[in-house]
Amino acid sequence: MTRDPEDTSPMPADPSEPNLADPATFVRPDMDRVWRRLRTHTPVYRHPATELGPAFWVLTRYADALTVYKDPARFGSARGNMLTSLLAGGDPAGGRLLAVSDPPRHTALRTMLLKAFSPRLMRRVAEGVRVRADALVERAVAAGECDFAREVSEIVPIATICDLLGVPESDQAAMLALSKRALSADRPGDTARDMRMARNEILLRFSDLARARRVRPEDDVISLLVHATVDGAPLTEEEVVLNCYGLVLAGDETGRLAMTGAVLDFVRHPDQWRALKEGRAGVESAVDEILRWNSPAMHIGRTARRDTEIGGERIAEGDLVTVWNVSANRDERVFDRPEVFDVARTPNRHLAFGHGPHFCLGAFLGRAEIAAVLAALLARVEVIEQLGEPVPLYSTFLRGYTSLPVRLTPVRRPVPIERSMR
Ligand code: HEM
Repeated sequence: MTRDPEDTSPMPADPSEPNLADPATFVRPDMDRVWRRLRTHTPVYRHPATELGPAFWVLTRYADALTVYKDPARFGSARGNMLTSLLAGGDPAGGRLLAVSDPPRHTALRTMLLKAFSPRLMRRVAEGVRVRADALVERAVAAGECDFAREVSEIVPIATICDLLGVPESDQAAMLALSKRALSADRPGDTARDMRMARNEILLRFSDLARARRVRPEDDVISLLVHATVDGAPLTEEEVVLNCYGLVLAGDETGRLAMTGAVLDFVRHPDQWRALKEGRAGVESAVDEILRWNSPAMHIGRTARRDTEIGGERIAEGDLVTVWNVSANRDERVFDRPEVFDVARTPNRHLAFGHGPHFCLGAFLGRAEIAAVLAALLARVEVIEQLGEPVPLYSTFLRGYTSLPVRLTPVRRPVPIERSMR
């Protein structure tokens, strides 16, 4: 196999399988076929070492994904839950940030943070989400043409999390720009250093806010974290800051990608748009199908905490294990006609939010955001047309598009939003 001399991306030892440590792999148009082949023939696949790090296990079937998700005693998160950080030797926030901690610390942190996600507070935040999503869609429709990714999807999640956390509105645009750079590169040219610097800047901003809330608490998550006790002791400033950062990174880009993905899905599957418009399917089932179909968090990573076995393969203590939601969500052993985008699909037990003890803390909010955008589109838009090529994200972790030019043709008379929510 010849290699473009300009191409500096790492290659796997086995060139017949794609290199899953390389972001370029995920913009390939044939990835669905790759996942199907792995699910069928090598569901527990040992990915060879790459220039970025050691070998790692690739699990592509739903049942194996559940096994890993449910068992933090065998498959730990404290070394990291994303391939990039695991390959780089571990997540520096390991053990202190909720998503990358193991029980008993994880259980204690999660119990405390759950207070910030109480149904009462979520309902209040969700109302703000509806108002914001509707105003953004109204503006986009009035403009006629827009980049949906940049003018709608980018704004809803970050503004929501910032409201929840207590980040002032004047800082929200800066937070959005930083968050975009911190998790994934918009362009192949962006470096690991750019990403690191963006993360540090986010931490610094939260540090300032935490200091202010220590003196004068408000009704927000930063204040909750600053004044909370876990196992009888307050969180350190570092833990407060890390967990704020964790919420921004966990909830911002995933939600954005799902919303932009939804719009593209309706362009590509106009029959499904009509099914929703004509009330043959509801927003609730559509949101879950959008999540299954787009699987914005492609994988999660774990580290084997002892020698074990999955699907007949022996996994050694310390081995890196990756679970591919993007494949498990198309597993033909679980989903009827998995390759069909069906907004009326029920049941739909997708793994887009993970499963088990680390199940997404923001799932209610994530669903509410997608539902709000969808309801606003249904109420205000008759036809969605794509005006240009969508720009795919460059990441081994996240999946979706950062730009999607569309024309939104308005309905003659907007439907009250409550009716389109049904
Ligand atoms: C965890 C996906 C929205 C906060 C997770 C996990 C997934 C996920 C797959 C599991 C990680 C693991 O097992 O290691 C998504 C998707 C979203 C979304 C697809 C949107 C469509 C949000 C939002 C927030 C949030 C809006 C916060 C406001 C979290 C947190 C965790 C988490 C804190 C860690 C939970 C724990 O480790 O106990 N998310 N998420 N997510 N998510 Fe989300």
